[in-house]
Amino acid sequence: MTPLLTAEAVTVRYGSLTALDGVDLRLPLGQRHALIGPNGAGKTTLLDVVAGATRPAAGRIRLGGYDVTGLGPAARARRGLGRIHQRPAVWGSLTARENVLVAALPRRAGRWQPAARRRAAGRTADALLDRVGLGDLAATPAGQFAHGQRRQLEIAVALAGRPRLLLLDEPAAGLSAAEVGWLAEFLRGLPRAVAVLLVEHRLDLVYALCDTVTVLRDGRTLATGSPAEIRASGPVREAYAEGVT
Ligand SMILES: Nc1ncnc2c1ncn2[C@@H]1O[C@H](COP(=O)(O)OP(=O)(O)OP(=O)(O)O)[C@@H](O)[C@H]1O
Ligand SMILES: [Mg+2]
Repeated sequence: MTPLLTAEAVTVRYGSLTALDGVDLRLPLGQRHALIGPNGAGKTTLLDVVAGATRPAAGRIRLGGYDVTGLGPAARARRGLGRIHQRPAVWGSLTARENVLVAALPRRAGRWQPAARRRAAGRTADALLDRVGLGDLAATPAGQFAHGQRRQLEIAVALAGRPRLLLLDEPAAGLSAAEVGWLAEFLRGLPRAVAVLLVEHRLDLVYALCDTVTVLRDGRTLATGSPAEIRASGPVREAYAEGVT
């Protein structure tokens, strides 16, 4: 079966620094795949390349078998990509509901949307805010939210685009223990129709959630395997023990 996502020999250079050096990645439909590795390994860079925010110097990205290497982030979002950033990105001057509504409205040229479509998007937004636990704060401007609430809102915004693949960059960073517990439950409860590519330093979360783990180090793939295989790998433990903030 055609994989949902393939990255083939992806190389990214920033000046003389090679951030990614011929990285391959393959995600079947519905898979939950983690990317781990020390700081600076290239994890965010790989998400940037998959999302279309960074053009690789070499290599190809395919979504559902279709070569999207030449497409920008908006075109890839239309093909089913959703993303959570390392720092939560929401519109501070818009209410929580407005943030989700913008993402729930079908993307089309021009601003005019038929009333029925706007109502349907409103229902979607309300349901998603309830799902992430922000139902009571729908009318609050996102700028007033604490970090954890922004994270919840960003997840609702990403899901409003009905992604087939959700890219998550350190979603647990900066969250309290209770919030990490909520996040783990929430991600575990996502329908399998949504595949996940998760960058995370919290290995307990990675092992509890993901089917497959890829370890990056210095822009190269050190290992790919099941959580049990990765946990048992000496070289992986050494690479990871080098220091993570
Ligand atoms: N825009 C940029 N310009 C120059 N160098 C960059 C840029 N973005 C990333 N880098 C460098 O590329 C390398 C990989 O960075 P990246 O952010 O992908 O690492 P990471 O694995 O996500 O690390 P962390 O765990 O700290 O988030 C690092 O050496 C980083 O300094
Ligand atoms: Mg990063």
